[in-house]
Amino acid sequence: MTVTTQVFQVDPENIDSAAIAIAAQMLTAGRLVAFPTETVYGLGANALDVTAVDRIFAAKQRPFTDPLIVHLANAEQIGQVAMNVPDVVAALAARFWPGPLTLVLHRAPAVAPNVATGRDTVAVRVPAHPVAHALLTACTLPIAAPSANLFSRPSPTTAQHVLDDLSGRIDIVLDGGPTTIGLESTVVDLTTQPPTLLRPGGVGIDALRELLPDLIAPAAPLVVAETEAAPSPGALLKHYSPRAPVVLLRGDAEAVRQCIYTVAPVLHERGKRLGLLAPDEEFNNYTDLRAELVSLGPAHDLTVIGRYLFARLRELDSMGVDVIVARTVGEGDAAGELSMAICDRLFRAAEGRVLDASDPHALELLLTLA
Ligand code: TXA
Ligand code: MG
Repeated sequence: MTVTTQVFQVDPENIDSAAIAIAAQMLTAGRLVAFPTETVYGLGANALDVTAVDRIFAAKQRPFTDPLIVHLANAEQIGQVAMNVPDVVAALAARFWPGPLTLVLHRAPAVAPNVATGRDTVAVRVPAHPVAHALLTACTLPIAAPSANLFSRPSPTTAQHVLDDLSGRIDIVLDGGPTTIGLESTVVDLTTQPPTLLRPGGVGIDALRELLPDLIAPAAPLVVAETEAAPSPGALLKHYSPRAPVVLLRGDAEAVRQCIYTVAPVLHERGKRLGLLAPDEEFNNYTDLRAELVSLGPAHDLTVIGRYLFARLRELDSMGVDVIVARTVGEGDAAGELSMAICDRLFRAAEGRVLDASDPHALELLLTLA
């Protein structure tokens, strides 16, 4: 079914309360509203209304096995959606909310079962964006909101990304400008003993361990099979993917440069277009390369890389490249609060294809994929 998607500009510093009121009414009526959060844009529906929540799955073409995060205006609302809430939540909320942390708790009966895709748990967060906060406050409902993209596409960090994927499928987009973090929230399951990190994100692991010292976190990106009854079904390998296949190259700048210069002429000869996602510092290595060169941001500044990563993947897609090569970043020396999240998103965008730049099979693989 096609609907007309209305777009309202809402300045985060000068909130248009009339637009917020219309969007809040839409949510109350069981309709879909996309809104900015500090991480990525979310696609919201009333979390207490089964039919409204079903519309999210339909609009996104999301599998009915992947549960949604419920967004609250403030931590005091938690009792509406969760029960047997452990004491540590108060401390976590005081430190990280509003902000990019999602907690998996025991689900209260009021929450529509499809929010949690039948599980007896519920994921909850209080977003920090002023537009999200105004909307959640105005509608007074808990709002289920996955990222506002088509399933398995890179998450949207601008209203235009939302429209590119979902125009005609949702009712309203609140355009509050580009999001600042650009990567989704960190998801922690507090229903397990000890607690488990299900998705690295905007809040880093070191900060979390100050309040959750026994938090279990996988050393490498968590990968689950599509059929598996997994703790976090969102941890599918193919996720955040642009249309063109992505290959990650690991190695020093020179090894990567050599690999790219071996591959590029062969691809060119075959009429294939190569997209290259490289840190700013290495742009000069590629000035005469026959490829679409897109900036990953400054290698030393993971905040900037995180903010634009999904936008850059979408940009390469719109250039129509046949294959994308990206440099791994955020590993080892450049590690910082966002490094786990950035490595995770790049790894999934590449569907797990990580090659050593000096691997002689790199060329072969790139030619097979392109
Ligand atoms: O930053 C964010 O978290 C954004 C903004 C819009 O808030 N939302 C977001 O939602 O990224 P989504 O649906 O794209 O990702 C939700 C993640 C998935 O990995 C899902 O499997 C996990 O949270 N999740 C949700 N409910 C869960 C539950 N009850 N148990 C385990 N994992 C859950
Ligand atoms: Mg998502």
